[in-house]
Amino acid sequence: MSIWTPSSWREKPILQQPTYPDQGKLNDVLAELKNYPPLVFAGEVRSLKEQLANVANGKAFLLQGGDCAESFSEFHADNIRDTFKALMQMAVVMTYAGGLPVVKVGRLGGQFAKPRSSDTETIDGVTLDSYRGDIINSVDFNSTARVPDPERMIKAYNQATSTQNLLRAFASGGLADLHQVHKWTLDFAHQGDVTQKYEKLADDIQQSLKFMEACGITSKTYRTLRETDFYTSHEALLLPYEEAFTRQDSITGDWYNVAAHMVWIGDRTRQLDGAHVEYMKGIHNPIGIKAGPSMDPEDLVRLANAVNPENEAGRLNIIVRMGANKVAEGLPSLIRAVEKEGLNVVWSCDPMHGNTIKSSNNYKTRPVDDILTEMKQFFQVHKSEGTHAGGVHLEMTGKNVTECIGGVFTVTEEDLSSRYHTHCDPRLNADQSLELAFLIADSLKEAQK
Ligand code: PEP
Ligand code: CO
Repeated sequence: MSIWTPSSWREKPILQQPTYPDQGKLNDVLAELKNYPPLVFAGEVRSLKEQLANVANGKAFLLQGGDCAESFSEFHADNIRDTFKALMQMAVVMTYAGGLPVVKVGRLGGQFAKPRSSDTETIDGVTLDSYRGDIINSVDFNSTARVPDPERMIKAYNQATSTQNLLRAFASGGLADLHQVHKWTLDFAHQGDVTQKYEKLADDIQQSLKFMEACGITSKTYRTLRETDFYTSHEALLLPYEEAFTRQDSITGDWYNVAAHMVWIGDRTRQLDGAHVEYMKGIHNPIGIKAGPSMDPEDLVRLANAVNPENEAGRLNIIVRMGANKVAEGLPSLIRAVEKEGLNVVWSCDPMHGNTIKSSNNYKTRPVDDILTEMKQFFQVHKSEGTHAGGVHLEMTGKNVTECIGGVFTVTEEDLSSRYHTHCDPRLNADQSLELAFLIADSLKEAQK
């Protein structure tokens, strides 16, 4: 048997990597990154794993969300704050109306590298290398911008560091205090059913807090009222970067990815004998594997055994992304195969990546109706299989963008051009995310009946 090391993935076939023109520069950057401080600590990673074990056992729900691709140009404290607030709103809706504790994980603070369906992009007869995320090259459509530049990894690290620093401040510095439940509403939120429903729920929570205060339970005395645990995650795609942030924990001697609490493998890079699966085998973080319509049930079991041979609860999250019209057909066989083997996993639903379409005016978009439908069907399948629909994985933002069509405050195809800011895939805006949170809360309540 070959021995795992942080670099043993280099012996395996690898997909979706850039070709750096200057290997010397690449090696210099990687050597520098190896000396940079970690962004997260092994103890925090272990706490997340414990919380995810509760999800695997049906006692909690996982909310994972944020940008498809973080970008250098959208980097701003307000954007981070608004996404944080949107996630807090969703979490409180699910906890209060859905009745389960919510584990919060941002797709933030390092979500820069993107797998692409094509290596090249053609516009008006000009063909260039595809954009692979700001950590690799630039989204601008000219030949110099598309050349992979290793220096971008340093910029991405710095941005990830300040993003995670701010998220920590929000989580423990007062913004996450339950007494702020009204303040999580975003300024531009439309006044309508969903917002009113949220305001009503926030009023009820404030009322309960007053009662608890009278009983001596206050933010001062109870940490969980004044702070939250907020974790970070990204796709571990660019393995040279991930390797530089793979460090040995001084307490246990185990290896951890210290660039995020949780990392996942995309649907395009989950080959059993491939480099990405090899890398995941040796790190002790919770990990995700995306499962699209082409996932074979037996392959899923093989993958699960390969990355989680001890069958540890909280280690493996299967992120199902079939598409609204495929999940009812494709998911039951995956669940049955996993159940038959007695594997402990967290099942979560990514209702985004199987529902991407081109609008008639040529925008990459997603119909909110399809997103809601996939989510509902995910819950229905789990109910009939007797398993726990454990979480949701979303591309969303707290900003008032117009990237996905539909929702209660309808975004039309004509609206797409107005605030279409994503560097990669279309995200739910704050209104659309809140609408989905209420649907999840209802489904969670229903599932517990
Ligand atoms: C993503 O999560 O941005 C992504 C590319 O997903 P998938 O691997 O499921 O296509
Ligand atoms: Co995406």
